[in-house]
Amino acid sequence: MTLRLFIPADAGALAVGAEDVASALGAAAARQKVAVDVVRTGSRGLYWLEPMVEVQTSAGRVAYGPVAASDAEGLLRAILADGAHALRQGLTEEIPWLKRQTRLTFARCGVVDPRSLEDYRAHDGCKGLERALALGPAATVEKVVESGLRGRGGAGFPTGIKWRTVAQTPPQQKYIVCNADEGDSGTFADRMIMEGDPFVLIEGMAVAGIAVGATKGYVYIRSEYPHAAATMEAAIAAARRGGLLGNRVANSSFAFDMEVRVGAGAYVCGEETSLLDSLEGKRGLVRAKPPLPAHKGLFGRPTVINNVLSFASVPIIMDKGGAFYRDFGMGKSRGTMPIQLAGNIKYGGLFEAAFGITLGELVDDVGGGTRSGRPVRAVQVGGPLGAYFPRALFDTPFDYEAFAARDGLIGHGGIVVFDDTVDMAKQARFAMEFCAIESCGKCTPCRVGSTRGIEVIDHIIRGENRAANTALLEDLCHTLKFGSLCALGGFTPYPVMSALTYFPEDFGAPPRLLAAE
Ligand SMILES: Cc1cc2nc3c(=O)[nH]c(=O)nc-3n(C[C@H](O)[C@H](O)[C@H](O)COP(=O)(O)O)c2cc1C
Ligand code: SF4
Repeated sequence: MTLRLFIPADAGALAVGAEDVASALGAAAARQKVAVDVVRTGSRGLYWLEPMVEVQTSAGRVAYGPVAASDAEGLLRAILADGAHALRQGLTEEIPWLKRQTRLTFARCGVVDPRSLEDYRAHDGCKGLERALALGPAATVEKVVESGLRGRGGAGFPTGIKWRTVAQTPPQQKYIVCNADEGDSGTFADRMIMEGDPFVLIEGMAVAGIAVGATKGYVYIRSEYPHAAATMEAAIAAARRGGLLGNRVANSSFAFDMEVRVGAGAYVCGEETSLLDSLEGKRGLVRAKPPLPAHKGLFGRPTVINNVLSFASVPIIMDKGGAFYRDFGMGKSRGTMPIQLAGNIKYGGLFEAAFGITLGELVDDVGGGTRSGRPVRAVQVGGPLGAYFPRALFDTPFDYEAFAARDGLIGHGGIVVFDDTVDMAKQARFAMEFCAIESCGKCTPCRVGSTRGIEVIDHIIRGENRAANTALLEDLCHTLKFGSLCALGGFTPYPVMSALTYFPEDFGAPPRLLAAE
């Protein structure tokens, strides 16, 4: 009998020892004379259980975690006996944290071998592409419009409308660009997809190419993701060998191929026009719009640029239909959002849920509060440009409009939790500092305003002329918000102003009384 084990090779699992666990289990199997077949998967996203080892049983996969290399000998013995072990989590699919999710985009992540096209096909892969080929370009675009999918990179622009704009430009060389720069704090969903289910991204980009008439795609991956880049490269090579990419995509008359490009480490290169400059080999500088990338993008050609999660959501939309996807969610936020729980949180990881789940449910219920065990004081949602929300705003549903109505954003779906030891004046200063460091320098409010912002916050922290300096900070934030060319300068006021508004006591002012506190 051969024992089938699944051990993640996801960077998050590797960081806590997954490689050592894999070697130790291999060595233990040799000593115990057991034949094992080890499949290296992505992560299921239950990061507090990593390295999580799964075992194939007749009832399904059973999970054990967090496993240390020193557990290997005893764990293998337990698995070969009745399976009972202190680290046993039960059937993976029955773990409540996983079971209560709606995994559409992440259905295969942590399940399949990310380098095997056969495994991808065996788990419903390529069905979306087949459907797109049967429907043809125009109907494919309309399916994506119908689904209500909005860009998962941050701005939430309707994906189908963007595709339609590119599709309607005259036939010429067009491009598909995937934004895998994933610079937001507390986010890792793009990385998980690229390391755990890269074919879903390849399939989504191929569908986009067919839909808009583009034959070439690029995935722009941040340099801090070497494992993701390596897995994508391997998957692209396998997709070419398997006929998913090339001159005749899946035996059709459509051609589409793609390449990986690695960034050089600038947050602003996640901004789409700056990313395009970087892809062209230039320094990443934000371009003024118009022209939109849909009209004049990469090398001046019509370009669809979408986030990893946007492309990765397309195959299931094509397979199950626009209406199926649209049925999940609330208001104008349709489908599911892969939410990333990070920072000082007990159960951190990837939680995919339909839009509408509240911030409180996510932080307290799903996340289990802080890892430190102290009270949650603030959460930052949507990356470094997102607002800090106090407990009083925990009834906010995960929805683009609901967050915007409270001067916040959901961005790429990252939630970073802070306990009551956080100093919010320091966090506000950090937001300005981040903007100053990462500014591309093209426009004055951001380039100069961020440095002035640090100085003003320092004056406030030191108690110098507090009232006047607070008014000055508000005025500066107003200038940044309305005078900046892109959202780096434009949104830096969100973390700054929310810290000042909800946590004035950290700036030396009287505390604010909020209803739910
Ligand atoms: C400073 C800045 C950084 C950004 N970083 C990212 C990023 O890392 N990944 C991403 O997908 N979008 C990022 N965006 C948003 C992109 O400009 C763009 O909206 C997105 O790639 C469009 O894809 P989508 O419609 O699928 O979200 C950033 C925007 C700004 C202003
Ligand atoms: S807001 Fe900042 S990052 Fe954006 S264009 Fe202006 S200087 Fe560059």
